[in-house]
Amino acid sequence: YSLLSHNTFGIDVSAERFQEYASVEELKTLIAQGALTTPFLHIGGGSNLLFAKDYDGLVLHSRIEGIEVMEEDDRSVSVRVGAGVVWDDFVGYCVEHGWYGTENLSLIPGEVGASAVQNIGAYGVEVKDLIISVETVNIHGEERVYAVEECGYAYRDSIFKRPENKSVFVTYVCFRLSKEEHYTLDYGTIRQELEKYPALTLPVLRKVIIDIRESKLPDPKVMGNAGSFFMNPIVPREKLEALQQEFPRIPFYELNDGRVKIPAGWMIDQCGWKGKSLGPAAVHDKQALVLVNRGGAKGSDIIALSDAVRASVREKFGIDIHPEVNLVNG
Ligand code: EPU
Repeated sequence: YSLLSHNTFGIDVSAERFQEYASVEELKTLIAQGALTTPFLHIGGGSNLLFAKDYDGLVLHSRIEGIEVMEEDDRSVSVRVGAGVVWDDFVGYCVEHGWYGTENLSLIPGEVGASAVQNIGAYGVEVKDLIISVETVNIHGEERVYAVEECGYAYRDSIFKRPENKSVFVTYVCFRLSKEEHYTLDYGTIRQELEKYPALTLPVLRKVIIDIRESKLPDPKVMGNAGSFFMNPIVPREKLEALQQEFPRIPFYELNDGRVKIPAGWMIDQCGWKGKSLGPAAVHDKQALVLVNRGGAKGSDIIALSDAVRASVREKFGIDIHPEVNLVNG
């Protein structure tokens, strides 16, 4: 079964078997029938995956749809959303309904289930701030609802990424969104871009975010990629201060625990990698945090480039950067 249309990197790999399900009942029936054989891999939209080679097992994918209002008052609304809903369709729905919260996460590829696994984030917002609870079914067919506090959320991380939870499948995510007008505008050039518009509204902010993303991030339909390939490293403040001696213009974000996050894209750019290629793999020419498939790349080509980039960053800055993308069989 070809996985070409199930990974945005556009790597031409296959799986031994591929199985989709459209409801919790259908998933539980598959489990009861013994259809979920090991090894298995549960994927979402395949927008944060890199297959190193063919997958010798079962690939699972949720087609659970639906956006359902659970509770609503004048100030907020709680919605339950199927894991298979395309993330940006959900954002579009929220903006149309005047629900505040998701708009800065416009145009992030992938599906709602994976958003809760990966704690997607952009432009000053992380999805953990909007989640109330995550509904799951495990490989034994047992249902469990995790309250947001139980999900272990951190930067691009949750308990659902741990190896021991590989057999916990997200079926629905519940979000609380605000009906009261409020925006998150402090990241990067958002305020500057807003000056082009007569007034700030939800649809305007969604448009601004989409325009910023489209100007920097390659469209996977045109050139294979999985967004940011690396996570931004988190380092002690002393490390930043030492680096500032040599690189006074180094950008950074303060975290509330005293540490700082340094943009890996900036460091990769400083190493001279932006726009450079290694075989069919390349560092995107508008955002160095993104690795792209120039056409016909294998997983190993992307990994070779990733290793070369990591070695450069380690040598120049003394910092190890790690993939944000999930490597399969890597
Ligand atoms: N920068 C450079 N050169 C580059 C890229 C970045 O100098 O080639 C500098 C920028 O000028 C800026 C800083 O690095 O000062 C940060 O860049 P940017 O705002 O583009 O964000 P990022 O830290 O590179 C993160 C997320 C993105 C998210 C943006 C906006 C991670 C791993 N990535 O990127 O998420 O869209 O912030 O919030 O945290 C993704 O996860 O796939 C993704 C695209």
